[in-house]
Amino acid sequence: MPKIERYRAAVIGAGAIAQACHIPGYIRNKHSELVAFVDPALARHKEIEENFPGVRGYTSLDEMLAKEKPNVVSVCTPNKYHAACTIAALNAGCHVLCEKPIAASLQEADLMIAAAKQARKKLMIGFTNRLYRGPQKCKALLQKKTIGKPFMIRVRFAHGGPYPGWAKDKWFYEPDIAAGGVMLDMGIHAIDLALWLFGPIAAVSAKAATLIKRIPVDDNALLLLEFKNGALGYIEVGWTSKPGFTGFELYGTEGSLICDYVHGLKLCSGKASAGADSVNEWEMLDDKPATGGWPIEIDHWMDIVMGKEKLTMDGAAGRAALEVALAAYKSSRAGKRVAIG
Ligand SMILES: NC(=O)c1ccc[n+]([C@@H]2O[C@H](COP(=O)([O-])OP(=O)(O)OC[C@H]3O[C@@H](n4cnc5c(N)ncnc54)[C@H](O)[C@@H]3O)[C@@H](O)[C@H]2O)c1
Repeated sequence: MPKIERYRAAVIGAGAIAQACHIPGYIRNKHSELVAFVDPALARHKEIEENFPGVRGYTSLDEMLAKEKPNVVSVCTPNKYHAACTIAALNAGCHVLCEKPIAASLQEADLMIAAAKQARKKLMIGFTNRLYRGPQKCKALLQKKTIGKPFMIRVRFAHGGPYPGWAKDKWFYEPDIAAGGVMLDMGIHAIDLALWLFGPIAAVSAKAATLIKRIPVDDNALLLLEFKNGALGYIEVGWTSKPGFTGFELYGTEGSLICDYVHGLKLCSGKASAGADSVNEWEMLDDKPATGGWPIEIDHWMDIVMGKEKLTMDGAAGRAALEVALAAYKSSRAGKRVAIG
């Protein structure tokens, strides 16, 4: 195989996340050249022409793949179309970075993983939180046993919701296109982080609810996780929140790691008791733990494509997180704990 000097990149779906992360990322990366995008919405073509001139626009994916012959693509469409677009691009010989969640069903995720294997191409899922400095430091500290035996994780990701203000239209609130509400959208990031930091999940109990917005999907959710190693965890996600805690907390026998995305990553050690003799020792490990993420995602992805970095956010990781999210919906509907796998 001749060495590729500059990878021909294309983006499928040119909305908010494409314009915030993927398009500028491929333009900036010195090993890629952004040649094209696909989007059925003509309003996007106008925006791209204005903001990123010179990138050719298509409304047909097949036509773009045939004419542009890209080596790498990002799939940034609404969730329903992730599988079909990813499989088409893999079959056309592209490495694919697909946005989260991997797909709308486990069957689709399996087909995507099989297509990547068959094509011998890389498939990465956009679990952006893993690329923040704070989570990366926590992963390293867990491996070093800095907090001893970890037994509890709490994750809270919440904001005011994807529309209006972020996405180009209301599709996040349409069950058929989004495949879920906030428990899937924000929950998938939180679940992936929990799996990455604490390992496989054995069972989930969850409640998804529409508390505030007048939408046909959930806008708030709580998940209780039972890890295979015996640890417990809980996740709160929401689309209706004013600013508050955003991040995660890890509790171990020798210390706690509080990763507050806004106020910093702190390690707490010392003596904690129910009495007055508690002595807490706080150490600020990083005052900007949410540094990284979108601005470095495409560089990370291109390093993976070129074999310089190992692929960890792969199809299997995407599938594992989706399995927990779908089990959480099942639990919420049934009012019962659901075993995974
Ligand atoms: N990793 C992250 O942090 C992160 C953040 C936001 C969104 N996302 C994910 O990115 C994806 C896109 O979300 P968004 O916020 O950019 O939405 P968006 O509505 O802003 O953009 C979606 C775009 O896809 C286009 N589109 C629809 N169907 C298409 C098709 N079949 N082929 C090509 N284009 C199509 C739409 O016209 C629109 O321009 C979602 O899966 C979402 O979950 C990830």
